[in-house]
Amino acid sequence: MTAIENTPPGPLKREGRLRCVLVSSRLDLRHYLGAEISNIADQVELIDQDEDGDPDARLAMAWHPADDAFSRYPNLQAVCSIGAGVDNIVGCSSLKPDTDVVRVVDPGQARMMSGFVAWHVIGHQRGFARYRAQQRDRVWLPRPQRRADSVLVGILGHGEIGRKVVADLTYLGFSVTCWSRTPKATSSTARSYYGPAGLAVMLNKTEVLVNVLPLTPETRGILDAQVFAKMQRGGYLVQIGRGEHLVEADLLAALENGQLAGAALDVFATEPLPATHPFWEHPKITITPHDASDVSVRAVATTLVTTAEAIRAGRRPPHAIDRTHGY
Ligand code: GLV
Repeated sequence: MTAIENTPPGPLKREGRLRCVLVSSRLDLRHYLGAEISNIADQVELIDQDEDGDPDARLAMAWHPADDAFSRYPNLQAVCSIGAGVDNIVGCSSLKPDTDVVRVVDPGQARMMSGFVAWHVIGHQRGFARYRAQQRDRVWLPRPQRRADSVLVGILGHGEIGRKVVADLTYLGFSVTCWSRTPKATSSTARSYYGPAGLAVMLNKTEVLVNVLPLTPETRGILDAQVFAKMQRGGYLVQIGRGEHLVEADLLAALENGQLAGAALDVFATEPLPATHPFWEHPKITITPHDASDVSVRAVATTLVTTAEAIRAGRRPPHAIDRTHGY
C-alpha cells in the first residue's frame, strides 16, 4: 500500500485547491511526497501526468521530465523542482520561456552539503586515506599533521549552499575564498572573487577546490584542464555540483600527472555511474552515489504550497529562478 492510500480522505476532498501535475520520467512523485501529502492537501490537489494533458493546469512539480512533457500542459505558470537543482527542468525543450521554475531552498540540505564538504576537506588535510591503507596493512605510523589554516580552500558557487560551506569551513579554521559568476553581496570574511579574471586569481591560491555551482550553459565543463593547472600542485577536488561541470578526461590526466592528489566525486554526467567507468577503480578518486545531501520532503511540500499561494495571489513564487541565468 502506498503512503497516499494511507492518507485520510478528509482534506483531499476539499474544493478550491490548485491542481498540481506531477511530471517525472524517473520518480513516482506521488509516492515520494507520500509522507507530506496531508500537509499540502488543503492547498494543492496532485494530478498524475497523462496522455491527454490539462490545458487548465497552472502548477506542476517535476524531476527529470521527458522532453515533451510540458507540451500537454501549455498554461503552466510555475514548475517546482524537488531539489536545489533545476537544470533538469530548465533544459526541457517543451517548457515555455515564461513559466516560472522554482527551486527548493532547504537550510537542512545546505548543512548536509557543508558537512559532506568538511569530511572531504579534512580528509585531504589530515591524510585519512593513508591511515586507511595503514590499517589494512597493520602499520602503526603517526604522521606530521597540517593545521587547517595552511589549507586554502576555494568554493565555486556562492548561493545558499556555497555560503554555508564558506561559513562552516571558516569556522573550522580553513583559509577560504569563494567565487561566483557575477558579484554577490557577502557578509562572510572569506575573500570573494567573480568573473573569469577573478576565477584565475582565486585558483592561484587554491589547494582544495569545491564545486557547488548550478549547471548552466556557462558553467558546463568549467572543471577542466585549465582550471586544474592553475591550482596549487597536489590539490584536491570536491565535486558536488553536477556531473556535466567536469571534463572527465581532464580530471584523469590531472590525477595522472600529479597536479591533483585526489578527487571526491558525488555527481556524474551519467548516473548511475556505469560499472565499466574508469573512476570506479581509480585509487585517487572517492565516489559517492549523488548522496552529498537529501532535500527534506517537508521542504519540498512547503515549496509547493508557497508556490500555489503565490500563483493564487498573482505574485511570483518565492525562490523562482532567473530563467535568463538558469539559476
Ligand atoms: C540535488 O542534486 C539537488 O538538486 O537538490
